[in-house]
Amino acid sequence: MSIVIASDHGGFELKEQIKAYFDSKKIEYVDLGTHSRDSVDYPDFGSKIGEAVISGSYDFGIALCGTGIGISIAANKIKGVRAALVYDENTARLAKEHNNANIIALGGRTTTREKAIAIIDSFMGATFEARHQTRINKINQIEE
Ligand code: RB5
Repeated sequence: MSIVIASDHGGFELKEQIKAYFDSKKIEYVDLGTHSRDSVDYPDFGSKIGEAVISGSYDFGIALCGTGIGISIAANKIKGVRAALVYDENTARLAKEHNNANIIALGGRTTTREKAIAIIDSFMGATFEARHQTRINKINQIEE
């Protein structure tokens, strides 16, 4: 399992807390930044994590900004990205089962550490349901 994670300043603190959780569980990840609380622009990190996931080097990505909204919008501009903004365990599970999301987006100012971990665990425990593939194919057609 290899995970890529990125945030703007609004998601920085939660990103660091998620990394500490991964360290405690010996889960591997790559951190694409940002690396401080200094103000940065979420589109820069949305495109970075989108490109990283599309490269095929990672199982999935975790993108964070203040709300998760901006960085998910930005990441979804990269062809092949299916970034899902999820706020609870149920939407996290469904994002995998129905949408085969390859990035989950979280809000650093809207989601607690405990909730974020529950969301990530739920997403990682879920499996894509192949009966939804036709709909994913239609999304791919929109991109063409
Ligand atoms: C930055 O202040 C904030 O706008 C950003 O983190 C994010 O919430 C945007 O959607």
